[in-house]
Amino acid sequence: MLCSRGSCPCGADSRFGGSCYCSSLLRFELGTVPADRNSKLGIFVNVMFGLDVRLQAVFDQVRCPTHVDVGSDHARLLAALLKSGRIERGIAIENKQQPFVNSRRRLANLAADVRFGDGLAVLEAGEAESLSICGMGAESIVQVLEAFPDRVPPRVFLQPNRQPELVRRWGLRGGFHLVDERIACGHWPYSILTFQRAADRDDPAYDGVDRDAALLFGPLNLRRRSAVLERVLREELEYLQRFDRMEPAGIRRRETIEAVLATWSETPATQTR
Ligand SMILES: C[S@@+](CC[C@H](N)C(=O)[O-])C[C@H]1O[C@@H](n2cnc3c(N)ncnc32)[C@H](O)[C@@H]1O
Repeated sequence: MLCSRGSCPCGADSRFGGSCYCSSLLRFELGTVPADRNSKLGIFVNVMFGLDVRLQAVFDQVRCPTHVDVGSDHARLLAALLKSGRIERGIAIENKQQPFVNSRRRLANLAADVRFGDGLAVLEAGEAESLSICGMGAESIVQVLEAFPDRVPPRVFLQPNRQPELVRRWGLRGGFHLVDERIACGHWPYSILTFQRAADRDDPAYDGVDRDAALLFGPLNLRRRSAVLERVLREELEYLQRFDRMEPAGIRRRETIEAVLATWSETPATQTR
């Protein structure tokens, strides 16, 4: 039996409620969590450049001379960054023909270089100050980053479609500290994670927070008791509680959510983002 929720992208067997939580984001019905367009400028940018809430959340944070976007496809992000003056030069990287053509078309006449190739194979070390990889699976993102670790720019913006914990683990392994994380609620609640290369391997973001919960839901989200995360977790818990039987991973996940929400119910919320 496939996932009975038409909106779940996993297409997985969910007889035991086991696989349908393939994503830590789960399958929320559209519109259950409001879009976090966090500024008037954000709404303007969204309308003006056609960025969805995920890409807008990345756009809001990028400002540097040269930015590289791997898996650029329609290249809306780079076009918006260039047209708004947030970057001086963009590098778009695509490994498929039609998305490569799409990128070339949108970035024509802008200060952008569009390269055909596999991830960082077509980037040289030190060419860009920041990098984004958005809209890809976490495993693919990590593969790209780990194929050429010395070519990864110091600032990294990642938006995995699922399993953000894999990306957080990469940060810990790769010597990148998590400096910002947000949840952008569009089609799903998307995690946008910002990393900074650091000399110290111990990431202070994880100090004093439960490691398992932090990897799954984000140490910074947990620390500031993100209102969006709280809502997302409550919806996920309600969903998971419908199953009498679950695989061990599902049970662990449910217990972790219960523990987070129990801690929060003991203390009043102070943050809302
Ligand atoms: C789903 S699209 C996301 C497009 C855009 N980044 C966004 O978030 O809307 C993923 C894109 O990544 C490209 N891609 C996947 N793996 C890649 C790789 N190893 N190197 C370069 N591009 C890749 C695909 O061709 C595809 O166009």
